[in-house]
Amino acid sequence: MGVQSLAVACGALALCLALTTATNPGFVVRITQAGLDYANQQGIAILEKELAQLKLPDISGDSRVLRVGKVHYELSRLRLRDFHLPYSRITPIPNVGLQVSISNAFAELDGDWRVKFYFVSRDHGFFNLKVENVYMKITLRLGSDTAGKPTISTSDCSARISKVRLLLSGKFGWLYNLFHSVIESKLRKSLESKLCDNVAKSVQNELQTYIQTLPVTARIDDKTGIDYSLVAPPRTTAQSLDADLKGEFYSLDHRSTVPFSPLPLAFPSDHDRMVYFGASSYFFNTAGIAYHKAGALVFEITEAMIPKDAGFKLDTSVFSAFIPQLEEMYPNMTMKFRLSAPTAPFLTIGPGGISFQPTVDAQAYAILPNSSLAPLFLLSLTGNVSAVINVRSGRIVGSVDVGRIRLSLKDSAVGTFKVRMMQSLMNILTSSTLLPRLNARLDEGFPLPLLDRIQLSNILVKYHENFLLLGADVHFQPRG
Ligand SMILES: *[C@@H]1O[C@H](CO)[C@@H](O)[C@H](O)[C@H]1NC(C)=O
Ligand SMILES: *[C@@H]1O[C@H](CO)[C@@H](O)[C@H](O)[C@H]1NC(C)=O
Ligand SMILES: *[C@@H]1O[C@H](CO)[C@@H](O)[C@H](O)[C@H]1NC(C)=O
Repeated sequence: MGVQSLAVACGALALCLALTTATNPGFVVRITQAGLDYANQQGIAILEKELAQLKLPDISGDSRVLRVGKVHYELSRLRLRDFHLPYSRITPIPNVGLQVSISNAFAELDGDWRVKFYFVSRDHGFFNLKVENVYMKITLRLGSDTAGKPTISTSDCSARISKVRLLLSGKFGWLYNLFHSVIESKLRKSLESKLCDNVAKSVQNELQTYIQTLPVTARIDDKTGIDYSLVAPPRTTAQSLDADLKGEFYSLDHRSTVPFSPLPLAFPSDHDRMVYFGASSYFFNTAGIAYHKAGALVFEITEAMIPKDAGFKLDTSVFSAFIPQLEEMYPNMTMKFRLSAPTAPFLTIGPGGISFQPTVDAQAYAILPNSSLAPLFLLSLTGNVSAVINVRSGRIVGSVDVGRIRLSLKDSAVGTFKVRMMQSLMNILTSSTLLPRLNARLDEGFPLPLLDRIQLSNILVKYHENFLLLGADVHFQPRG
């Protein structure tokens, strides 16, 4: 695009702002045609029930009937018996929204009729109307509100009924003709307009309320939350409905701007699951920042945590094997380690999986007889962490394993010593205390952005450049 045409394109200030502030999402939710088909099944069942409750106003009027003259007619107590929507489909229309097409729907309606003619004669009875070949086309527009919650509304609706069949009780032949010619068409028009009114109302009252159950801020624990607000209105392509979410963890007490931006997610064209979640490396790395900011990345290893079968105690007599001077300075004293992350951990995601080399500071203390702590030495621990991610009960769960831990000495109050000798001991120490507790937390997982009463099954986990792709089928649990 040339400078001039860019200037023209940016003529509308709003567009310019939209272009310059566009941010990549940290988390993407994609609903495929399979997902829309499932949504269609569930939605249509609800719409059938709604339409069966549809109320039509009474109809009355005057008409001239051959050899009878002026006839006043009234239709009242119009009741829909049922409404069947056997054929329907929801398809995404690129850049427009979702189109719901309903064809060959049918319904049955009944009510009372009453006529007055020759000014004095009256008659009344009961009628039944079979409505067939009902076609509807509804366009749903998706958006997002100021809180970043999704919105949905009917932007277009048309309804056409191409066949009605009237059955009525009565003794006059002309009555049937009157109803057939005049009243059938009035009933048809009345029903056609009511159908769209009713759909718009259902979308507003049911669907909009339902999709607003998206938890745009998910509180995880007393320290952190996840921001799942929409960064733009949901997008439709020919194959899917995509929602771009912020996908950012934050510290409840100290929310701050993240010092890096999400990279674009090159979503694959997978489409056999109903829904796909793209969780970017940004998403996971903001978790590291949030927990670091919240002061949660601190862990103490105490003597009480050492498993009985570990074969050693956490005391200076064990460590004096590596640091002989400990024996003299702090003889026979219990020790403890305080582990902390000097910086927020940072991981990368690629087709090969998650790679992660966190650095942890481990400060060793001797516990003096009067319970105060004597700092001994400060180690820096690093190692390759492998992570396995899964989805369970609507949550991203994981577990990690650490390869060989490498040590370096950062500081010492007890003189120098060779840290390499301590490597095995530190490996056992961390893998028997920190790792099981960390994995227990990761196993509780973190909530996915799911609407109310949605359960996931048939989980698929794949690694792509910069993001993790989670695929699933959906089951909607009706209320009650
Ligand atoms: C270390 O302490 C234990 C019990 O607290 C005691 O039995 C042992 O004799 C002590 N060893 C030394 C070398 O002081
Ligand atoms: C504990 O004992 C050490 C050395 O014996 C001493 O330096 C320190 O002040 C004591 N701390 C307290 C709180 O009594
Ligand atoms: C981690 O893995 C990389 C590549 O596999 C290797 O070069 C590096 O030495 C490993 N780091 C540690 C601390 O084991």
